[in-house]
Amino acid sequence: MVGRPHLVEDPELVASYVVDWTGRFAGGSPAVVRPGTPAEVAAVLALCAEHGVAVVPQGGNTGLVGGGVPLEGELVVTLRRLDEVGPVDPAAGQLTAGAGATVAAVQGAARAAGWDYGIDLASRDSATVGGTVATNAGGLRVVRFGDTRRQLAGIEAALGTGSLVSHLGGLRKDNTGYHLPSLLCGSEGTLGIVTAARLELVAPLAQRAVALLGFDAVDAALAAAAAARRDLRSLSALELFFDDGLELVCRTAGLARPFAPHRCYLLVEAGAASDPAPELAAVVESLGAVGDVAVALDPGPMAALWRYREAHTEVINRLGAPHKLDVTLPAATLGAFVDSVRAVVGAVASGARTWLFGHAGDGNVHVNVTGVAPDDERVDEAVLRHAAGLGGSISAEHGIGTAKRAWLALNRSPAEIDAFRAIKAALDPASIMNPAALLPPAGSS
Ligand code: FAD
Ligand code: MLT
Ligand code: ZN
Repeated sequence: MVGRPHLVEDPELVASYVVDWTGRFAGGSPAVVRPGTPAEVAAVLALCAEHGVAVVPQGGNTGLVGGGVPLEGELVVTLRRLDEVGPVDPAAGQLTAGAGATVAAVQGAARAAGWDYGIDLASRDSATVGGTVATNAGGLRVVRFGDTRRQLAGIEAALGTGSLVSHLGGLRKDNTGYHLPSLLCGSEGTLGIVTAARLELVAPLAQRAVALLGFDAVDAALAAAAAARRDLRSLSALELFFDDGLELVCRTAGLARPFAPHRCYLLVEAGAASDPAPELAAVVESLGAVGDVAVALDPGPMAALWRYREAHTEVINRLGAPHKLDVTLPAATLGAFVDSVRAVVGAVASGARTWLFGHAGDGNVHVNVTGVAPDDERVDEAVLRHAAGLGGSISAEHGIGTAKRAWLALNRSPAEIDAFRAIKAALDPASIMNPAALLPPAGSS
């Protein structure tokens, strides 16, 4: 169906597809299938549905919740061959990209045509259009442009039935029934396989300026973040990290500190068609309780300030497979969560270390815990219950995957989970699509 060379059965080659990026989730698979067209993807799913063969779709395998690897012996279907990025439609400000195209490739094509893509994340060189749609990825520019769902103007997908649905016209007003882009976005490969997406582009941030601010109190940093969201019209990123994380980044990556240590840091980026530096400077000037400031206006120095934040994921991973929890809190309880979560972890895992960083502009805190066995889920449960208890979501942007599916009911009512199951039964009646992801095991809720 896909051509003999595209059915990979050599265990040495299969091995790289069965372990996730963090190393926490590892499984096994008899084979990896590499379809080269949407029709081949649909045909593979039709055959799998007929024979009851479970499937895990995979893009760049940068997912952080164990949802893209075969944990129960599923067949892996990799979309990487569907990597075509179509031409930019300058009138619509849109392009169509294959599921296997990387985010960086979409950004590159958009920029070459005088546009940009609103999604950006540190995994940009590997994460794919299909994977980012399937997880509704967030990233570094949600505060300005919204999440992946907001960029979706159309979708093409092979459903669990093997039927190919294609709606890539990109009309902005189109009230002709159920909105499949919304439904498939965030479905984590449990309903079907995304084969292409029609993506909205954004005006490029032709000029940028970055400020790194040090604070000695979390409340002060959060108050500054709120003020930046209100006052900085050109705000394009608003990131938070702490001194232990900065110290680890500097030590591991051999970087000098930006300035004297502070309890926590905000990275504020402004981007616009004309120079946003004066506006950024005025807003920074107006903020109270800033301990230190470093400003960058040129690409090299801006990248150096960004490195302090972006390198967190990679350096924490080098300490051993972390438990990665990714929560959003309402503004009213964000400070209380940040102040208390280390103690919550300490109460169930005394030898563990907790690292906090995230997207302050979205109320999204990444809680990474190292020094805990991969299968010891007490930390996960404690942190997720704590976040939900404060009115938060147990997944801000990485998805539920396999890592959090036991706790979906912390955020979703039995009626909602029943509705999820009914949708899955309709689009994936043979239950072949990513069975270990998202939905709690049958009978558990
Ligand atoms: P994979 O990891 O291959 O798969 C992820 C999920 O999508 C799985 O459930 C898989 O089955 C499903 N899937 C993949 N392709 C398809 C398809 N074509 N159709 C249907 N289902 C599919 N995430 C953020 O949200 N924000 C960040 O800032 C961010 N930063 C990151 C930084 C680093 C260094 C790393 C390693 C990861 C980061 N991530 C971030 C997580 C990750 O990059 C995203 O979840 C991304 O969307 C995954 O894309 P992928 O192509 O690698 O998908
Ligand atoms: C990030 O914000 O850096 C990403 O979501 C990755 C991570 O959580 O480590
Ligand atoms: Zn993130």
